[in-house]
Amino acid sequence: MPRNPWFETVAEAQRRAKKRLPGMVYGALVAGSERGRTIDDNMQAFADLGLAPRVAGHHAQRDLSTTVLGVETSFPVVISPTGVQAVHPDGEVAVARAAANRGVIMGLSSFASKPVEEVAEANPNTFFQMYWSGDRDAMIQRMERARKAGAKALIATLDWSFSNGRDWGSPAIPERIDLKTMVRMAPKVLPRPGWLWRFLKTGRIPDLTAPNLQPPGGTAPTFFGAYGEWMQTPPPTWDDVKWLREEWGGPFMLKGVTRVDDARKAVDAGVSALSVSNHGGNNLDTTPATIRVLPAIAEAVGDQVEVLLDGGVRRGGDVAKALALGARAVLVGRAYLWGLAANGQAGVENVLDILRGGLDSAVLGLGHSSVHDLSPDDLVIPPGFRLTLGGGAD
Ligand SMILES: Cc1cc2nc3c(=O)[nH]c(=O)nc-3n(C[C@H](O)[C@H](O)[C@H](O)COP(=O)(O)O)c2cc1C
Repeated sequence: MPRNPWFETVAEAQRRAKKRLPGMVYGALVAGSERGRTIDDNMQAFADLGLAPRVAGHHAQRDLSTTVLGVETSFPVVISPTGVQAVHPDGEVAVARAAANRGVIMGLSSFASKPVEEVAEANPNTFFQMYWSGDRDAMIQRMERARKAGAKALIATLDWSFSNGRDWGSPAIPERIDLKTMVRMAPKVLPRPGWLWRFLKTGRIPDLTAPNLQPPGGTAPTFFGAYGEWMQTPPPTWDDVKWLREEWGGPFMLKGVTRVDDARKAVDAGVSALSVSNHGGNNLDTTPATIRVLPAIAEAVGDQVEVLLDGGVRRGGDVAKALALGARAVLVGRAYLWGLAANGQAGVENVLDILRGGLDSAVLGLGHSSVHDLSPDDLVIPPGFRLTLGGGAD
């Protein structure tokens, strides 16, 4: 552990995560698919967009707050659901506490390692995320459980096609962790004793089960058991999306949209929000960066539903750019996972402070008093940057 656990950028949090986590856990967070073109473009595209600051007439007071699906947030960043286990013993509960301390909404994956009841208790502003997995009765039971726990919205993530294979190699993740597996994993884990020690101190070893998918009276499936159920479930139609939205009945976000025609169908299915997302570059490689396809989607449906974006956000300036191009808020994935790995709950708070500080600087430098005033006029947009998928030529 460095003498000063505070870090100044998300890049530094990632460096510390790499040092502290066993290679296979770090590799599972890096993720990405095939060549990694999409995961790279998600970040590169933010770097290619410029800012056009003003020099005087700045505002001493700046309002960064907004709402997402009717829930207040102190600034427009939402914790994106990640089904990641074994990063830290407090897992999603630590993330939820950090988010609550910073006035931020928590997105909880159904594949997470902590039960929705514990997470919603740590952060009352929790949105629960589901895939289209299992039969309808199981989906209803999972939604009812999340609703009873106090989840304020449902996120349905549909952009997954089980593509796998990474040119840089995928980590070998065990089916479940028992003593035999620990012995087998020892050579990979022992070079990172701090990580193991954090778990052993709590009297637990990393838990690779998905408690939010536990059937009533049954046991929680393993991560891979849950993945198997999902793979075997026939993919949803737009009528299924409508059914899910009706069964939930409350605020409903569809995550994974990249095409204008899909965005329009999502509106027809009655969603209240959508996230322009390519699953952080983990789905079909060579899908363009989300920030490139955001403007066309925001223009097409932004007056009917809330449009969010996720993918590649590592700085407050990235948040400002997404808002300037039509997003109401962004979701972040790896950024907070690096913080969690680097310094637990305080590391997630550190990451949220970095994003908030960077956004505030951008709003100040661009001469605005509120995040709602950001517009394309604040940006330098390279020729050919914007792409319209499924909505005519661009
Ligand atoms: C390790 C990992 C696990 C993820 N698990 C889920 C998940 O369970 N459910 C989900 O909707 N998205 C999941 N995602 C996608 C994120 O919610 C989000 O879309 C993505 O991380 C955004 O990109 P970023 O990491 O560049 O911020 C996962 C992403 C990563 C990196």
